Amino acid sequence: MPVSSTEISEIVDGLSAKQKQISPKYFYDERGSQLFDAITRLPEYYLTNTELGIMRDNIAEITEKVGKQASLIEFGSGSSLKTRVLLEHLSELAAYVPVDISAEHLHTSADEIRAEFPHIDVLPVVADFTKLFQLPRPMVMPVRNVVYFPGSTIGNFEHAVAMELLRVMHHEAGKGGALLIGVDLQKDPEVIESAYNDSAGVTAEFNLNMLRHLNCDYGANFDVDEFAHSANYDPDKGRVEIKLISQTNQTFEVGDKAFDIADGEAILTEYSHKYTLDGFAAMAAEAGFVVEKVWTDKEQLFSVQFLVRA
Ligand code: AVJ
Repeated sequence: MPVSSTEISEIVDGLSAKQKQISPKYFYDERGSQLFDAITRLPEYYLTNTELGIMRDNIAEITEKVGKQASLIEFGSGSSLKTRVLLEHLSELAAYVPVDISAEHLHTSADEIRAEFPHIDVLPVVADFTKLFQLPRPMVMPVRNVVYFPGSTIGNFEHAVAMELLRVMHHEAGKGGALLIGVDLQKDPEVIESAYNDSAGVTAEFNLNMLRHLNCDYGANFDVDEFAHSANYDPDKGRVEIKLISQTNQTFEVGDKAFDIADGEAILTEYSHKYTLDGFAAMAAEAGFVVEKVWTDKEQLFSVQFLVRA
């Protein structure tokens, strides 16, 4: 991706705040995406496998909820195994519409999906899905739109932004539409913390890679070895706070701006919110959705939820 000045100023603004922060979207350069894939295969990272298990165990009911001749609109590029499980079982789909901001990533995964599912009308849309966007017109008129948002990616966003996003999904679902969403649940803090502090150190590498990404593509000069990974779960706030902690008093530059960071001072790189079923239902209601069905695993680690427009 070419460097955009809006992105540089977004990064500079975040680092100028009292709590230094960089958006989690900067995790995902090529190496970052590979590291995230590796995270999903870690024994401690229960989210992906649990969600996939829930999808597989309940696929008949899930496809029945989606119904025939629906247009499935995925928020994100949809290269995951979860999407494939869904597409394999939704034989009568009007269209599959993956929506992603990265055109390159989107078109590669859309081509893969087309090759695997030649009977599906795949209509990728390049857009920032946190804002309203125009849906394409499928060849077959859909009976309803079903927005798909797996992976508990909703957890990345603070309450107000998550609400905005739910409202965008409500709008894009349209009349009679629905939302199929993966939502991680509150649980034993130790289970959560070990998912973000794996013993192989992959999550630490993933976190530190953000600084490498900024060095390579955004003209920054972080001394990556002088930062350390940190991830703590705050049970009151119901979220994991992922940070990079400076190991010394140091200076770094981004764009043409210099920043001081003290020994022990943190750069916040990500929140990962965990929900209670009631808490999430309340948010859904505020956005105009009713929770129609919740599927979970035996241990109630994770949930897949089907929301309909109220
Ligand atoms: C992609 C946002 C769902 O919050 O668990 C994994 C990202 N960060 N390990 C998450 C992530 C560190 C992940 N989401």
